[in-house]
Amino acid sequence: MNMLKCFSIALIATAMLTATSYAQDGPKSPNTNQKGSEFVEMKKEEDSGAREGKAMHGTPVIDGKIDDVWKNVPALMTDRDVEDENTLTEGQTLSQASVKCLWDEGHLYCLAEVKDDKISVESFDGWDQDSVEFFVDENMSKADYYDDDDAQYRTTAEGEESFGDSTDGDSYKSKVTKVEGGYIVEASIKLKTKAGKKIGFDAQVNNDPGTGSRGSIAKWNDTTNGTYQSLADIGVLELVDASGSEFVE
Ligand code: BGC
Ligand code: CA
Repeated sequence: MNMLKCFSIALIATAMLTATSYAQDGPKSPNTNQKGSEFVEMKKEEDSGAREGKAMHGTPVIDGKIDDVWKNVPALMTDRDVEDENTLTEGQTLSQASVKCLWDEGHLYCLAEVKDDKISVESFDGWDQDSVEFFVDENMSKADYYDDDDAQYRTTAEGEESFGDSTDGDSYKSKVTKVEGGYIVEASIKLKTKAGKKIGFDAQVNNDPGTGSRGSIAKWNDTTNGTYQSLADIGVLELVDASGSEFVE
């Protein structure tokens, strides 16, 4: 191998190493318009294997009933069991939801159709009761803490709302309907920023199997119970211009 070849290989290897370590350790906030940060974020998204879902364009009436505008909106399944928190015993079943999202200027709307064979809100805290949570990271920085544009919203099967410590509850409205074998939560979330085409998103279903405490948690993307503290492992929601009925994949 001649000297020039040797030198080029060493140069490429150094560049690759630097890029990798920057991608891993680089800043978490992507909202600066710097090219470097964008690169870090795109890389992170690919690496994390986060699920990607679509929010279609449309405005539902928030009344806990499923209006036509929800038709043909692709569903996100909260089919990931947070194993560390699962204390269900024989005969007790996991509670899961099919979640659909819509958006319009300044809002995100979520419809969770929850399967739960035994509804209970016996516990003191909302997250220990049968309930649904939505996590929103508007600038998709996926930080391991909550910044200003991040939020955690919760509605129980009885319609009681509660929020993460740094979340403004005024941004949230929800309505619940109990149905055969479960309940429906329909919610409206005011977006604080002019959201881009993609935002960070996750949905969580808490389940009290009838014991008076939480026996299982199911989520769309994050497989840990840490979403209320860190948004590093949430999924990605693309705000699509077409409505559900116009949408063909
Ligand atoms: C978690 C709970 C936590 C709560 C705080 C929920 O998402 O599952 O364990 O205490 O958030 O708001
Ligand atoms: Ca239950």
